Amino acid sequence: MQNPSRLAAEPAAGADAAWRAILDAASERYRGTDAHAMRFARAKLGNDRVFRHVLESGLVPAGAHVVDAGCGQGLFASLLRAADAVARVGGWPAAWAAAPFDVRVTGIDLLELDITRARAALGDAATFVHADMRRFNFPACDRIAFFDTLHYIAPAEQDAVLARARAALRPGGALILRVHDASAGARFRFGLWVDRVTMLLHGGGFGPLAGRPLSGWRATLEALGLQVESLPMNGRPPFANLLIVARSPAGREAGDGSAAAR
Ligand SMILES: C[S@@+](CC[C@H](N)C(=O)[O-])C[C@H]1O[C@@H](n2cnc3c(N)ncnc32)[C@H](O)[C@@H]1O
Repeated sequence: MQNPSRLAAEPAAGADAAWRAILDAASERYRGTDAHAMRFARAKLGNDRVFRHVLESGLVPAGAHVVDAGCGQGLFASLLRAADAVARVGGWPAAWAAAPFDVRVTGIDLLELDITRARAALGDAATFVHADMRRFNFPACDRIAFFDTLHYIAPAEQDAVLARARAALRPGGALILRVHDASAGARFRFGLWVDRVTMLLHGGGFGPLAGRPLSGWRATLEALGLQVESLPMNGRPPFANLLIVARSPAGREAGDGSAAAR
């Protein structure tokens, strides 16, 4: 659990100090689970800039229901809870977009071990379901995150999952994808290879992986009626990664209860 008095000691205005406080709190949740989970949380959240970017740029609005598809050990949920805690004690940087207060996260993953770790770390602060995204019935929600997960399923399955995810979005909602860019040649192939080995080490087998160039992701998402923005979003080492935000049009059904419409 986080210690609010320690969080309160962080300076309110500094973005780097705020990020360190969030990183500490998000990793700390895994202390009571197992040594690997805590080390992994700190390394992944600290080295992969997508997580800080999501907070800085306000990609998750206050009050949102977020589905994290392929949530692993629940790092995104832990990050959002930590961001909420830091913001509540006045530690949110003025330069960042609005803080993600009161966000509700439902994480799903194929690997039971990761779901067990996520539940142990987050308790009732988030909901975790042991499920396959290819068969999961996405609940009505405001954001669906696919962080480094879609390439584990075949292209036709990706299309079907994205269509069902899009159907679950409330007006103004968004799919947030972090994907490999298949047009990036050797860096793309290297990234896929690393992910295959990582999955093998996590007990998830050694199946084929499927990427697309940005133009392919864009065409699929636009065909679903979504407005697409993208930017390079590499971790360390610098794989050919993209962050894609695909938004559904806002506002037609006023009073729908979506966070984005509030
Ligand atoms: C590289 S990890 C990323 C985990 C997490 N999104 C993160 O950023 O920390 C990929 C995750 O996708 C999960 N995954 C792969 N195929 C899946 C499927 N069909 N349904 C649900 N989860 C899946 C794996 O079990 C693994 O936890």
